Amino acid sequence: MVRNTATSVVTIDRFIIEQEREHPGATGALSGILTDLALAAKMIANKVRSAGLADVLGSAGLENVQGEVQQKLDIIANETIIKAMDHGGRLCCMASEEAETLIPIPEKFSTGRYVLLFDPLDGSSNIDVNVPVGTIFSVLPQKTDGTHGTIADALQPGSAQVAAGYVIYGSSTMLVYTTGNGVHGFTLDPLLGEFLLSHPNIRMPETGAYLSVNNAYEQYWQEPVSALMRRYRGLDGQRKAMNVRYVGSMVADFHRNLLGGGVFAYPANAKSPGGKLRLLYECNPLAFICEQAGGAATDGTQRMLDVQPTELHQRTPVYVGSKGDIAIAREMLGAK
Ligand code: AHG
Ligand code: MN
Ligand code: MN
Repeated sequence: MVRNTATSVVTIDRFIIEQEREHPGATGALSGILTDLALAAKMIANKVRSAGLADVLGSAGLENVQGEVQQKLDIIANETIIKAMDHGGRLCCMASEEAETLIPIPEKFSTGRYVLLFDPLDGSSNIDVNVPVGTIFSVLPQKTDGTHGTIADALQPGSAQVAAGYVIYGSSTMLVYTTGNGVHGFTLDPLLGEFLLSHPNIRMPETGAYLSVNNAYEQYWQEPVSALMRRYRGLDGQRKAMNVRYVGSMVADFHRNLLGGGVFAYPANAKSPGGKLRLLYECNPLAFICEQAGGAATDGTQRMLDVQPTELHQRTPVYVGSKGDIAIAREMLGAK
């Protein structure tokens, strides 16, 4: 991978503008969305960094729409993104993992032709123990005609995405995104307060050494999932054994595998027959990024990006990672 050098410092704003120039018909709206998201990411990064100091650790004592305990930072991150994005005149609506229904653009603001879907804080149960968390986003074109978007605008297959990305609040803060023209990573320079291009044109290795899966569910997996996991771990003698690495923040696990190769899997199991992770806020954006980096993603029956969503908070099984390793999953699971 070619690393950026000190002589060619490229800020995310400059990179976004240069990419836009390659599309002569572009209105600048998508660029504006990405720029605003980068600002929101910096604001959330600040909160995450000082979480231990600012009394924002721990549960807020509320439950979100899926019955999960919301962490204070879940709420803060959710509000931060909404407030950074609602007045730009580029969105017709938003949807968040932390909001039950579609988030409308307030009447006092103008609207635009894009939809933003997001998981404001991914891996939030890891906050209290200082383990990396993330933010995931997905941008779709509005498909209905009104000034304000409807649920139909959010319920589009992942293949309709025009941009997707994530932020990882790790040992450094990185923003990784695609607009369908490769995958590019930016590292936040904490002194400058700028995301700088550090990982241009990320390519995922064809096969990987790491498997990210929660093995605690082994007893609840059914065939052929169990056989696939045995294959990945080299237990059936058919493949070199992968090492298991599971952070419990999808963004962190995916990021490692994107750079080094590997598979992130959250299969269906007897306790969660539909899987756990959310199609619109987690699986589709990471699947788009993965494909753009040369990888692949399936729900176990078909290409992830081809799944037609039917509800906002839909969950799905997911297998996302290096192309050769996902080909094994497709074959063993009988997926298209
Ligand atoms: P979120 O914090 O947005 O609810 O996401 C948590 C997700 C994902 O990040 C992670 O991979 C997975 O939940 C972990 O689930 P298990 O603890 O069941 O393995
Ligand atoms: Mn999540
Ligand atoms: Mn979340």
